Amino acid sequence: RREERERLARINEVACDYYHQILLDGPEGAAGRQYLRKRGYDGEMARTFRLGFAPERWDGLVEHLTRKGFDAKEARELGLIRPGKEGRGDYDLFRNRLLFPIIDLGGKVAAFGGRVLDDRLPKYLNSPESPLYHKGRMLYGLAQGREAMRKNDTAIVVEGYFDHLALYRAGFANAAATCGTALTEEHGRLLQRYAKKVLLLFDQDQAGRKATFRAMEVLLPLGLSVAVVPLDAGEDPDSFLVKAGPNAFTERLNQARPVLEVYLDALLDEQGDGIEGRARATEEFLARLKLVPSEIERGLYLRNLAQRTGLAQDLLEKKLSLPVAPSA
Ligand code: GTP
Ligand code: MN
Ligand code: MN
Ligand code: MN
Ligand code: MN
Repeated sequence: RREERERLARINEVACDYYHQILLDGPEGAAGRQYLRKRGYDGEMARTFRLGFAPERWDGLVEHLTRKGFDAKEARELGLIRPGKEGRGDYDLFRNRLLFPIIDLGGKVAAFGGRVLDDRLPKYLNSPESPLYHKGRMLYGLAQGREAMRKNDTAIVVEGYFDHLALYRAGFANAAATCGTALTEEHGRLLQRYAKKVLLLFDQDQAGRKATFRAMEVLLPLGLSVAVVPLDAGEDPDSFLVKAGPNAFTERLNQARPVLEVYLDALLDEQGDGIEGRARATEEFLARLKLVPSEIERGLYLRNLAQRTGLAQDLLEKKLSLPVAPSA
């Protein structure tokens, strides 16, 4: 197994170099360079993140690997090439895409994510899971961001590749991206190695809000301090930074609010002023409050909940210590 992993790692490495060189100065990389420039990134950022470009052809990587003396079929296991139908040769997974290598904590290329240069779908394509890549255990940019996380004792969690790049460029290196997948407990434990505080900075849309409260349920039991950074409707961290700049962004970071406060607001907002709505909001909130390990914090939130709902605090306390019924 170990030899196999090493062989696969070498292929990812060779593929990464291949795509990277094309982006930096290959004749087939002009469109990728232009796209990157349009979004405000220079060659230095491309080098720091080993960004690449997959040319618009079917067999660029297949040919490159063969020329380098690899059995190109081995790249099938990484998903980088796929078997052609009926005797036709293998073909590349990534074509005409800007590539983000996902680097593991050992500095090795585990997988790639690739973006189209226009508005075609799917917007992003990812390497499939492989012996080197389990998306539930990997955060994009953690390898580049972990030192800054440690220094700040704070990890910023964003959704996308370009969010991570935008933050890094603006001087906020302590970020990592979930790349659109749900945050897992393993992700949480990775972040916990470097920081006690997590700032959730997902896109300000329906999906991002949902992801925020799901991440809350994963992170609170770990005893992490979790806060939400406010963005304007429709923005993501990248678009906000491009529009408003780093100073405005710092202000937003300073406005981060504890995720449970944001959650309570959202619940009370959603459920309205009726008795049933408030009862449901109270149940939902208590179920999340149970996830908080600190008794003191639970007590403070409970007082807050009592004030907001008008319910007696000792009733809420009793409810909090009872087992939760599964919510519908
Ligand atoms: P830009 O539009 O380039 O700024 O990208 P974005 O990161 O803002 O995209 P979006 O908010 O739509 O998605 C967030 C992240 O989810 C992306 O960075 C990807 O990692 C992932 N993602 C988005 N769309 C797709 C998709 O179609 N397929 C897959 N596999 N992942 C996606
Ligand atoms: Mn897996
Ligand atoms: Mn999004
Ligand atoms: Mn986005
Ligand atoms: Mn974006």
